[in-house]
Amino acid sequence: MKAKVDPELCIGCELCVQNCPAVFIMESDKATVLVDLVPEEAQGCCRQAKEDCPVEAISIEE
Ligand code: F3S
Repeated sequence: MKAKVDPELCIGCELCVQNCPAVFIMESDKATVLVDLVPEEAQGCCRQAKEDCPVEAISIEE
């Protein structure tokens, strides 16, 4: 599984970082993805982060 943050959409609310710190970090005022492949144990929180992002900036590729 891969995750992506669209920097054009991200408003820097940091919810994804709180939801899933193993995958997302803040880089200046936007979130970015730390890992090339989302590790098994972080897939649940990664999906949650996608669900919860208020501007739908997160996309997931299975
Ligand atoms: Fe940005 Fe959405 Fe995360 S707005 S900081 S990608 S929850």
